[in-house]
Amino acid sequence: MSQPPTTDGHVPTGSGGGDFQARMNRLIEISIALSAERKLDVLLERILTSTREITGADAGTLYRLQDGRLHFEVIQNATLGIATGGTTGNKARLEPVKLDKANVCAYAAILGRTVAIADVYESREFDFSGPRQYDRVTGYRSRSMLVVPMKNHAGVVTGVLQLLNATEPGTGAVVPFRSEDTAIVEALASQAAVAIDNVTLIQETKDLFEAVIRVMAAAVDAKSHYTGNHIQRVAILNSMLAQAVHDTAEGPLAAVRFSEPEMEAIRIAGWLHDIGKITTPVWIMDKATKLETLMDRLELVELRFRLIRELLRPQAGTPPKPAEDAGPATRLAELDEALDAVRRANVPAENADPALLARVQEISRRTYLDDGVEHPYLTPDETENLTIRRGTLTEDQRRIMQTHVEWTNRLLSHIPFKGHLADVPVFAGQHHERLNGRGYPDGAGRDRIPIQSRILAIADFYEALSAKDRPYRRPMSKEEIIVIMRESAAREEIDGDVLEVMIRSDLIDAFEALFEDLRQEGLSAYTTPPR
Ligand SMILES: [Fe+2]
Ligand SMILES: [Fe+2]
Repeated sequence: MSQPPTTDGHVPTGSGGGDFQARMNRLIEISIALSAERKLDVLLERILTSTREITGADAGTLYRLQDGRLHFEVIQNATLGIATGGTTGNKARLEPVKLDKANVCAYAAILGRTVAIADVYESREFDFSGPRQYDRVTGYRSRSMLVVPMKNHAGVVTGVLQLLNATEPGTGAVVPFRSEDTAIVEALASQAAVAIDNVTLIQETKDLFEAVIRVMAAAVDAKSHYTGNHIQRVAILNSMLAQAVHDTAEGPLAAVRFSEPEMEAIRIAGWLHDIGKITTPVWIMDKATKLETLMDRLELVELRFRLIRELLRPQAGTPPKPAEDAGPATRLAELDEALDAVRRANVPAENADPALLARVQEISRRTYLDDGVEHPYLTPDETENLTIRRGTLTEDQRRIMQTHVEWTNRLLSHIPFKGHLADVPVFAGQHHERLNGRGYPDGAGRDRIPIQSRILAIADFYEALSAKDRPYRRPMSKEEIIVIMRESAAREEIDGDVLEVMIRSDLIDAFEALFEDLRQEGLSAYTTPPR
């Protein structure tokens, strides 16, 4: 039966009688490859395939020592065609081995000693009832065995390599592992243990960093009643859109490819893009009506109008003068109309009715006398807010809202992003820039906005349009959103090529379905491991 290729692209040939120098060269190559590998599953698989290759072992198992037990990580058997764990996608589902010296692997782990056995059926030192049972079921014949503890830089055993049935090159006959194999596998096992420690440490550090970022995003999202999932949704869509751009084989972006480290930078930028909103006052983020501050000031205006109404009413016992007979009634009716106009003007609109805004201006010029003191119907600040044409924010409030990007930049400048993450602050800080140079905070134009920032800007724009619960906008259909986004692209605000990839690849439906699944399962990307 032919043997599967190793992850190094080498095919185990059996090396029982191979040239020692060639094997040493191969050992050095493998050592270098192990220390360069950054993915744990690849690394574990490579360790086992490499040691099998060098010793000519037909089968083998790599265990990791965790929580006082040996966990099956990678299992390979060339004759039976078995490959589990590592990059195979099939996890080894066997019960971990307890640290009992009767088990040869546990023995090697406890004492930190290598064990070589010529024929396990002849051995009286260890309990091999398990392998015998396995052989009965599979028809395999376990014979020679080499068990080597994997010790890290501190000499601590962190795993065990168990190699089975050394084969002679040419004949394929099963022979005992040779003594020089022991030294080679021990050297490799130590290297492997250190490599596993390094990869695990790097991964744990990355996971910790991403978890902190996601927690910060969750905190910002939790501030807003209306935009509660914004960062989470943008972060997910941003990564999906980057993947779609990477995958596209047509159009002007067909040649764009993102490596895995580049995808990591894109993902992190998505999670961090609105981190500056941690400084934005909640009442501005959530301003649902034009008069709203910490409360809806419409109530104050209503109270004031009630006072004016009382002041306009004819005093009891005072006989009305003939000329004023119609006066109070007319003024009261006019007052009711004025309050109604204020109420209508307080409701945000995409494009407020100019006649209504003019009416508010008129009302604001009216005054009433209270205890001989003249007061305006509406204060200048109330008038400014009520005459907002679009949405709920005045120019000053809009500027405060927009400073969240400057805060994103300021906060991220304190995080030492290095190497492939060096541009994360650029991608995150440019999500409100526009290709025509009319965005903020820098007014950076097309030449200064990289593709990663353009992708994030589109994810952010889509999310803002798709939100079902914005106070000043009714929910929009996918078709309406696409029309608005295409208009924006035509004005050279967002990147039309990226937008077309999003539309062409049906990403909107895929994203919304994924998000709905997450929601229904009660899951949250804030806490889902970054893989
Ligand atoms: Fe933003
Ligand atoms: Fe955003």
